[in-house]
Amino acid sequence: MQLKELKHIELNTDLIRKDFPILNRQINNYPLIYFDNGATSQKPIQVIEAIGNYYSNTNSNIHRGVHTLSREATEAFEQARKTIANYFNIKNNQQLIFTSGTTDSLNIICNGLAKSILKKGDEIILSSYEHHSNILPWQLWAQENNGQLKIIPLNSDESLDMDALENLISQKTKIISIAHVSNTLGLITDLDKVKTIAKKHNLILIVDGAQSAPHMAVDLEKLDADFFVCSAHKIYGPTGTGILYMTEKWLKNLPISKPGGGTIKTVSFKKTEYAEGALRFEPGTPNIEGAIGFAAAIDYLNQFGMEAIHKHESELVNYAQIKLSEIDEVILYGKSLNKAGVISFNIKNHHPFDLGTLLDKYGIAVRTGHHCTQPLMSLLGIQGTVRISFAIYNTKQEIDFFIEKLKKVITMLS
Ligand SMILES: Cc1ncc(COP(=O)(O)O)c(C=O)c1O
Repeated sequence: MQLKELKHIELNTDLIRKDFPILNRQINNYPLIYFDNGATSQKPIQVIEAIGNYYSNTNSNIHRGVHTLSREATEAFEQARKTIANYFNIKNNQQLIFTSGTTDSLNIICNGLAKSILKKGDEIILSSYEHHSNILPWQLWAQENNGQLKIIPLNSDESLDMDALENLISQKTKIISIAHVSNTLGLITDLDKVKTIAKKHNLILIVDGAQSAPHMAVDLEKLDADFFVCSAHKIYGPTGTGILYMTEKWLKNLPISKPGGGTIKTVSFKKTEYAEGALRFEPGTPNIEGAIGFAAAIDYLNQFGMEAIHKHESELVNYAQIKLSEIDEVILYGKSLNKAGVISFNIKNHHPFDLGTLLDKYGIAVRTGHHCTQPLMSLLGIQGTVRISFAIYNTKQEIDFFIEKLKKVITMLS
């Protein structure tokens, strides 16, 4: 089912919560309140059962097998590709490559471009928001090739200074690789603007969708980037699976950096002819259960539609931002009405770890620290934050309980 065909319904969180067995857990004698969805989301029973069902009934290695189980497993794996491609509005499902996650996908892109497009001394543009996963491969390449990373700076409200982007571009610039949504601040990048500039200067555009895909509808046809990557485990699917989308041009031309069984047409000791399409980039036995589980997660989301989920989560973000703003000791980062599921804050004069540890005593799971965005922390002049991030199953009642306990924790620490 494609996004545009979906009928959107009001979310019934009471019913939805029943689909997530882990929400029955008590942590320190309190019902679990899970606000760490930015790190990984919880899984509905439909995903858990799809994986169990695969192992109970279909488990076999895929492609090249003639027996029934192998054919069924291959069909389930390739059906998963179609389901996910359809969801992201990818016309040719071969443009969707299964990887182990966002980090793996970014490495495949960087290594492929390093072998083809990038030349010594070239420049790559990243933003101040980037997760370490979208810094390190480029930095390593730059260090080894006398290249340079240029960084889109922050405005005073912690949004990205898009007016500065064009000034960063030189004759040596080849790539813009950028987060669709900041995993630390939840702020949404103005991709239309980035795309216009990338096209004007003929730059390759790579979009890290690890934090946008869980919170908003992503139409890759419309997005029109060269590459898009995300991880299943942040979108109600299993860990160890992600996707790498690339345009048909790159599908044909990106050099492979991870050869192996499955990627080939024929091999001799003299010469290898590689497969066409997605298989070129899927060496070895893939994460079959991961692809099937990811497709089950997509089927689950399709019942509600991403627009409805985005609306629900935006209401939670705005409600929580208002409640947090009413507490004198709270410092909010990247406060905005246009955010995707994530809020970062600190309490004056207190370390985020202490807050996280004390909130856990009340069954509240938050993330504390630098969130793999140390350069952003440096720009903000802080060591870390407390991050709360929402999903389909979170409620305003949970936020009320969290605010009540946060106030208590602040009093305890003062
Ligand atoms: C924006 C962003 N990029 C990349 C990653 C890395 O994702 P993974 O660990 O699933 O590879 C994350 C994970 O938090 C992220 O938020």
